[in-house]
Amino acid sequence: MAERKVKRVAVVAGDGIGPEVIAEAVRVVEALRGTHGVELDLQHFDWGADKFLSEGVSLPEGALEMLARDFDAILAGAFGDPRVPSNRHAEDILLGMRRGLDLYINLRPVRLLDARLTPLRERKPEEIDFVVFRENTEGAYCGAGGFLKKNTSEEIATQEELNTRRGVERIIVAAFEYARERGRKKVTMCDKSNVQRFGGDLWQRVFREVAARHPGVEANHQYVDATAMFMILNPAQYDVVVTNNLFGDILTDLGAALQGGLGVAASGNIHPGRVSLFEPVHGSAPPLAGRGVANPVGSILTTAMMLEYLGHSEASRAVERAVREAVVARETTTDLGGTLSTRAAGEAITKRLRRGRD
Ligand code: NAD
Ligand code: IPM
Ligand code: MN
Repeated sequence: MAERKVKRVAVVAGDGIGPEVIAEAVRVVEALRGTHGVELDLQHFDWGADKFLSEGVSLPEGALEMLARDFDAILAGAFGDPRVPSNRHAEDILLGMRRGLDLYINLRPVRLLDARLTPLRERKPEEIDFVVFRENTEGAYCGAGGFLKKNTSEEIATQEELNTRRGVERIIVAAFEYARERGRKKVTMCDKSNVQRFGGDLWQRVFREVAARHPGVEANHQYVDATAMFMILNPAQYDVVVTNNLFGDILTDLGAALQGGLGVAASGNIHPGRVSLFEPVHGSAPPLAGRGVANPVGSILTTAMMLEYLGHSEASRAVERAVREAVVARETTTDLGGTLSTRAAGEAITKRLRRGRD
């Protein structure tokens, strides 16, 4: 990543509700301009289902090289459209960027902003506050497998999972380093090593090795099915959770639910020191698209994560504060109990940011 004074951000709004929620995230960036030293140069790209259907292009040729060379971050909406049942374009664009830019950390915070948002009875914000480190470049997402005797009654489909020593080690190291730097007490590694003997064995061995190098952080192992249960029964036990690509995908939708739903969950796809991709956890939600009802909080908190990554920590905290205030005041979309449209919910946040600045 080149040392640029004005950081450059590629904005890819994508499909469905993507453009609606990203418009609000962009307004937040505009509201910050000139404050906390924030100055970002945004460039928009029209990659998504419309372009794929009209031109046959998903992730344009040379895009990865361009992103790596000319940008510091990517802010993305969502990809997925019922007109593309194969999901081919979304895979090319989203998984293409994750893998092609080697964004091995999928960092997904699970943080309750307001006790009223969680479906769990009597849980307070301090009891739901952890981060998930999802491995983001291999595992079940490697695309390996195939068919034998396809479309016969003896058909066989294989779907393989890839776990490399390097891939497992770097995500576990990232989780421990994060815990050490942020004063988090415990790293919990979740796997299914009681059944997935080989991949699980590798994860277990690497986890023990890395844990031994981080004596100040408690190392805890759980089978992932138990984690799914304990995230509901006792979420306060988690500080940092590290797991593979597929388990991380599933657990973070559950994590989103704990925080108030997919509308609020944020994520970063990160390779430290390189161009990194920030996107809300939710998808394109086709039934909500074009109605002005989608919650922009997920993409605005994602923008806060991006600001932090770009070195604008103060601005990042200001955005998080403005979001929390708006949520507590119930100035939100209906999924969070408010009555506002996407646009008005975004405005409730930018209004607070501008006020905080005067
Ligand atoms: P989804 O996240 O799009 O929506 C599931 C449900 O969650 C919605 O129906 C809605 O009730 C709620 N929801 C999601 N985002 C919301 C928001 N901002 N505000 C309020 N409510 C919200 O998941 P899905 O329906 O399983 O998938 C739809 C499409 O999105 C599929 O094509 C899928 O592959 C794709 N997808 C893309 C991404 C991504 O681009 N990162 C992530 C997940 C799913
Ligand atoms: C996510 C999504 C993606 C994933 C899909 C759309 C490929 O569910 O970002 O969580 O499985 O990683
Ligand atoms: Mn997912």
